[in-house]
Amino acid sequence: MMLPVLVTGGCGFIGSNFIRYLLETDPDISIVNFDCLTYAGNLDNLSDVARDPRYRFLRGDIADRRAVREVAETGLSTIINFAAESHVDRSIHDSSPFIRTNILGTQILLDAAREFNVPRYLQISTDEVYGSLGPTGAFTEATPLAPNSPYSASKAAADMLVRSYVHTFGLPAVITRCSNNYGPYQFPEKMLPLFIMNLLRDEPVPVYGDGLNVRDWIHVRDHCAAIDRVWREGRVGEVYNIGGRCERTNLDLTNTLLEIIAKPRSLIRFVRDRPGHDRRYAMDSTKIEQELGWRPRIPFEEGLRETIHWYESRPEWVANIRTGVYLKYYERQYGRRLSDRAPKMKFSGSPANAKRRHANAKSRRELPKSKVRGPKPKRPKVRRAGAGRRAG
Ligand code: NAD
Ligand code: DAU
Repeated sequence: MMLPVLVTGGCGFIGSNFIRYLLETDPDISIVNFDCLTYAGNLDNLSDVARDPRYRFLRGDIADRRAVREVAETGLSTIINFAAESHVDRSIHDSSPFIRTNILGTQILLDAAREFNVPRYLQISTDEVYGSLGPTGAFTEATPLAPNSPYSASKAAADMLVRSYVHTFGLPAVITRCSNNYGPYQFPEKMLPLFIMNLLRDEPVPVYGDGLNVRDWIHVRDHCAAIDRVWREGRVGEVYNIGGRCERTNLDLTNTLLEIIAKPRSLIRFVRDRPGHDRRYAMDSTKIEQELGWRPRIPFEEGLRETIHWYESRPEWVANIRTGVYLKYYERQYGRRLSDRAPKMKFSGSPANAKRRHANAKSRRELPKSKVRGPKPKRPKVRRAGAGRRAG
C-alpha cells in the first residue's frame, strides 16, 4: 500500500474539498489530515468521510516542530500544505498568526520533508502574492511578487522559502497559485459565503469601497482537480498558476447573487473600504493548461447556483458556525460599518452609476481620500446629523 499523503489544513474550505476529491477519485489513496482546528478548521466539513479507512485525522499544528517530525517520521509519500491563516481582513487586524503559521509553519514542513526524504512537497499558494493589476493584463508565473497585505506577504515569504529549499537542498517541491475559490464548506468570513448567508436571512451585504474591485473566480472543485494534476505530474521547482477565466467586479457578483436569491438591491450597503484593497486580480493559466492539460470545467453561473443551494440546504452546518466566536468577529468587522449611516444601494450597478455613487460617498467622507476616483462630487445632499463622520 502507498505511503500516506499528508494534507495539512484539511479541515478548512479547500483542504476538505480536496480530501473528498481524492477519496472520490483514487481508490488506493491513503490520507492523513493534519489540522490544528483554528476557528476556520471544522470537523463537520469531513464528517461524511470520517470513517473511510483510507482517511485519518490527526490534530496538530504545522508550527509545532515536534508534532510535525512525529508524523513525518512514520513515512509519507507527499506533503500538500493547505494549512494557513487565509483571511486578508484578519491579517489587517493582527498579522502575528499569519507570520507564525504561514511562514514558520511552512519552514517546519519543509525541514521535515528534507529530514525524512518525503519524495514530493506541494505548496498551496495564491494569486495575491503578485499584488494588484491595472484594468488590463493577467498574472503569469513570471510576474514579480509584490504582495500588498500582511496575508499575501506571509504567503509570498512561504513561496520564497519553498523556492530556496528546491534551489539549495534539491527538495522536490512544486508551488500552485490560485485565484478566488468559491463552493461548499467555505467559512463565512469570505465574501461569497458571507453574502449568500446574509441574503438568505434578508440581512444587508457589506460591499467594500466602490464595489469595482475585480476577482477571478474559480469553483473549488476545479481548483482541486488542478492540484491533483500538479501534485502527480507537475515539474519540480515550478510554479503553476490556476485561474477560473472568470473576472467579475464585486458589485456585478453581488447583483448576480441578488438575482438568483431573488432579494432587493436595497440590501446592498457600501461600506468603508478594506485598507490597501487590491484592485484587480486575473490569472493567466496557460502553463498548466498546456503542460498538464487542465482547464476549469464548471461554468460560473451553474457553480454559483449549486453553491447557493448548498448553503441553503445546510442549516445545521451554518448554525454550528454562527456561534459566539463568529458573531463576535462579525460585530468587530461590520458592526459599525453596517450601521444605518452606511448608504444603501440607490443607483443601478453600472460602473458609471457606481462612479456617481462613489462621488456621493466621498462627499460623505466615507472613503479614504487617496482611494477616491471619479467625477468631482456635487454639493452633498446629506442630512446634517452625522455629516463629516466616517460610516464605519
Ligand atoms: P481556510 O482558512 O478555510 O482553512 C485553513 C485550515 O488550516 C483550517 O482548517 C485551519 O484549522 C488550518 N490551520 C490553520 N493554521 C494551522 C496550523 N498552524 N497548523 C495546522 N492547521 C492549521 O483556508 P482555505 O480558504 O481553505 O485556504 C487553504 C489554502 O489555500 C491556504 O493556504 C490559502 O492561502 C490558499 N488559497 C486560498 C484561496 C481561496 O480563495 N480561499 C485561493 C488561493 C489559495
Ligand atoms: O485570490 C485568492 C485569495 O482569495 C486567497 O488567497 C485568500 O485566502 C482568500 O481569502 C481570497 O482573498 P480575497 O481578499 O480576494 O477574498 P474575500 O472573500 O475576503 O474578498 C473578495 C472581494 O470582496 C475583495 O475584493 C474584498 C471584497 N469584500 C470582502 C468581504 C469579506 C467585500 O466587498 N465585502 C466583504 O465583506
